[in-house]
Amino acid sequence: METKETPFRKMVFVCTNLRETEDRPCCARRDGVALHAQLKEMVRDRGLHGRVRVCRSGCLDRCASGPNVMVFPDNRWYSGVAAADLEKILEDIAAGL
Ligand code: FES
Repeated sequence: METKETPFRKMVFVCTNLRETEDRPCCARRDGVALHAQLKEMVRDRGLHGRVRVCRSGCLDRCASGPNVMVFPDNRWYSGVAAADLEKILEDIAAGL
């Protein structure tokens, strides 16, 4: 095994978990997949893709407040995210890069 620093300055996890049944909420049914794609595109468009990695994540265990996005190493959590929030989230992510 080899250990090294993460190749990205920031890691962004967007929950895209889909539950097959609708008895419990899930981020996929609240636009999590689209939010992931849009945020990834915004990062690419701003030339940040070498420093910021936008990943899909499985359930982050805060389903009722989703869609959820978390950013490391900023230790920042966004819940109830809508497409209109992505610009602000990206602004936060870009700060300090
Ligand atoms: S499904 Fe997204 S936090 Fe659980």
